[in-house]
Amino acid sequence: MCGIIAYTGHRPATPIIIEGLKRLEYRGYDSAGIAFCLQNKLSVIKTEGKLSNLEQKLNSQEVLLNTSGIGHTRWATHGLPTTQNAHPHLSQNGRFALVHNGIIENFKELKKDLISKGITFTSDTDTEVLVQLIAYYVDKGNSILQAIQKSLNQVKGSYAFALIECSQPQTIWAGRCSSPLILGKGQGENFIASDIPAFLPYTKEVIFLEDYEIAEITPSQIKLFSLSHLTPIARETVLIHWDIQAAQKEGYKHFMLKEIFEQPQVIENCLRGRIDASKQTIIIPELNDIPIPSRLKIVACGTSYHAGLWAKYLLEDIAKIPVEVEIASEFRYRESLLDRDSWVMVISQSGETADTLAGLRLAKEKKATVIGLCNVIGSSIARESDITIYTQAGPEISVASTKAMCSQMITLLLLTLFWAKQKQIISQQTINSFIKQLVTLPEQLKNNLTAYHQKAKELTPKYAWAKSFFYLGRGIYYPLALEGALKLKEISYIHAEGYAAGEMKHGPIALIDPEFPTFALAPKDNLLPKIKSNLQEVQARGGKIIALTEPDALLNVDDTWFMPRSQHPFTSFFVLPALQLFAYETAIYLGKDVDQPRNLAKSVTVE
Ligand code: G6P
Repeated sequence: MCGIIAYTGHRPATPIIIEGLKRLEYRGYDSAGIAFCLQNKLSVIKTEGKLSNLEQKLNSQEVLLNTSGIGHTRWATHGLPTTQNAHPHLSQNGRFALVHNGIIENFKELKKDLISKGITFTSDTDTEVLVQLIAYYVDKGNSILQAIQKSLNQVKGSYAFALIECSQPQTIWAGRCSSPLILGKGQGENFIASDIPAFLPYTKEVIFLEDYEIAEITPSQIKLFSLSHLTPIARETVLIHWDIQAAQKEGYKHFMLKEIFEQPQVIENCLRGRIDASKQTIIIPELNDIPIPSRLKIVACGTSYHAGLWAKYLLEDIAKIPVEVEIASEFRYRESLLDRDSWVMVISQSGETADTLAGLRLAKEKKATVIGLCNVIGSSIARESDITIYTQAGPEISVASTKAMCSQMITLLLLTLFWAKQKQIISQQTINSFIKQLVTLPEQLKNNLTAYHQKAKELTPKYAWAKSFFYLGRGIYYPLALEGALKLKEISYIHAEGYAAGEMKHGPIALIDPEFPTFALAPKDNLLPKIKSNLQEVQARGGKIIALTEPDALLNVDDTWFMPRSQHPFTSFFVLPALQLFAYETAIYLGKDVDQPRNLAKSVTVE
């Protein structure tokens, strides 16, 4: 949670910081602030609420004079989302300002100790402890680097921070432990941010700061030091291939809508380099010469967890690999029964989700082999996994995840086919047919999205009054029903439950009445007769039904939404955007803030 950006260079820093914060707002948006030095004096401007509130406060000329500074957008963990608790936080002596992402778990003890030494605090945050502690050690005669080292050695928990000091306006210090922080290397200017899109308009050259490292940047230099001994570290820069268009709205009203419409392109990107059309084979170089897992444990959170559940059906059906899927926050706190023969796959768009990362570390402690399926290049999960497979969705900005799930599903399907082929349990003819459908999928999806959007717009006024919704599916559509319900909850705040359609009669059907509609996933497959009878049970209790189905499926329901005809499991890729667009249009109809839903953050880097 929380977004950090810092800039030092030759241009006015405030507009760069504000622009960067806009691209980090998905990480938190309950308050925001910036700090910079002018004439040996620190200025801090901060406010509660969204970034637009901060922009209104920044309408003076003074904020264009500084050529360095730090900025923050907050998702509160300790202390209410007030101006007082907004970052940057100042040390008591006014020399230092700091922005932080993470949680300092022992802040109460540290704060008590500092108060006993005469230091006065002005906020309820855990963060303020860090800036006060650093200032305290500097006052005791340490250099700034030594003071940072001493302070971090006392801190328990997670942090990524950026720090400025009033007498060295062009220098910024930063450090990280379990929260992301990336350095951007420019020409006569350098950047620090929680995520690459924040500085993408200015540079594509990045340096990944590792845990327990400190960075000191000026316009001309980036220096890294180990936290343990303050020894200098040499680190290569990495060239990122994302483009800035991908991190902007490009005429769409919301990032969520843009990202839904990007899915055909995302599928193409996922397939690029993974299909050898001439040989009709699936290529996953990351897995060459790696044994095939005999069993697989998938660990993830939120939408990524749903992608894992979806993949279980394929991996078991096609590749005959037994799969267990577990929510990371459960997995990390129970006896996992893993050993050196175990295989764990962690799935994460951001690669920074705290619970998933903890699951990965637990699996590694038990000597299991970890495959990381990640979107964000160089993220913690990508770096710590034994084998990393990137999902190629490009930057996902909207808090509600859409295209990332699509990319995870495509990658998981490719993995399934790859392993099935390696096990020699799939015919070349079947592989050929899968490849054919995969390569035509982007175009087919693209041809349907505008009509889908229209259909979602038509349906929402008829259903947006509902207080609760059921999403029903069977087989591979059950995880998608869970995802449909999650999307609706996340952005429209309508209560929704995803259910395995056959399980309805074991309790949930008691809830059905004319005010409790059902969104049924009913493709024309062998389970259609079963789902039809489940829907009759709903209708018998007066429940209204939207059915997402295929031509000729003939369902007698209130509203039918036709997908193009396709084959299992490709139908899933037509189900997913329908669910996303229905949630999107419902939220729009109800006037909700789609890209920044209340209480949520995109990247949950705290427990
Ligand atoms: C948060 C986001 C969800 C996301 C989940 C897992 O809760 O709001 O959209 O699915 O984290 O994120 P990850 O980055 O690990 O896929």
